[in-house]
Amino acid sequence: MKIRIAIDGPAGTGKSTVAKKIAEKLGIDYLDTGAMYRAIAKIFLDRKLNPDEISEKTLEELFKEIKFDLKCEKLYLNGKPLGDEIRNPEVGKVVSKVASLKIVREKLTDIQKRLSENRSIVVEGRDIGTVVLPNAELKIFLTASATERAKRRFKELISKGLKISFQEVLDEILQRDKLDSSREVAPLKPAEDSIIINTDNLTIEQVVEKIFEILNSKFGRLVSINETNNCQ
Ligand code: CDP
Repeated sequence: MKIRIAIDGPAGTGKSTVAKKIAEKLGIDYLDTGAMYRAIAKIFLDRKLNPDEISEKTLEELFKEIKFDLKCEKLYLNGKPLGDEIRNPEVGKVVSKVASLKIVREKLTDIQKRLSENRSIVVEGRDIGTVVLPNAELKIFLTASATERAKRRFKELISKGLKISFQEVLDEILQRDKLDSSREVAPLKPAEDSIIINTDNLTIEQVVEKIFEILNSKFGRLVSINETNNCQ
């Protein structure tokens, strides 16, 4: 049996950590679609491309040069693993703008659908349950208040040694929430058949536990699927 789990939600809900843990516990693959949007945003920054002015032709040309692969939960862009360079605040500032471009969404959605084909996988993002995997076997939407999400993200960035203020983190989160939820193509919103979990007062472990309870009640005791063991 193939099982595809969509995990959507805004920044700072613990989506990535939760998605990775679920994939690990089930022994199945994991795809971080935000990393793909971030990688494209990084290319915009490196090449000084302006998302407000870029033409469809330039974008079409750009995507001809781009090849994503997913190997054992790691994403590769043109053969190179994506690293921390896509997580810096500069990328955070432009990514939602870049992610609102129709062609960028079409191209990345196609790639994400292809990478999720014929395998059990946990896919996390903003539009997985609504657009990328509308037939996913399970759809989860994680939420939390903006302040709580900013607190979590602030802690994470400080622990990585970044010099940033809480206010800056909160502003970025609010700005991205606004852009992600109001864009025309594939806005951030729960799919009608998704299960919404508010994570305000929950630890990562508690969220993972809740999702496993849902999985178990839906599919029987699902301890491990273990399709991707050849990754160690
Ligand atoms: O980890 P964090 O929540 O900060 O964000 P991310 O998952 O790395 O995604 C970065 C940005 O990419 C989001 O704010 C969205 O603008 C965009 N994104 C999207 O539009 N659709 C997705 N499926 C995933 C990310």
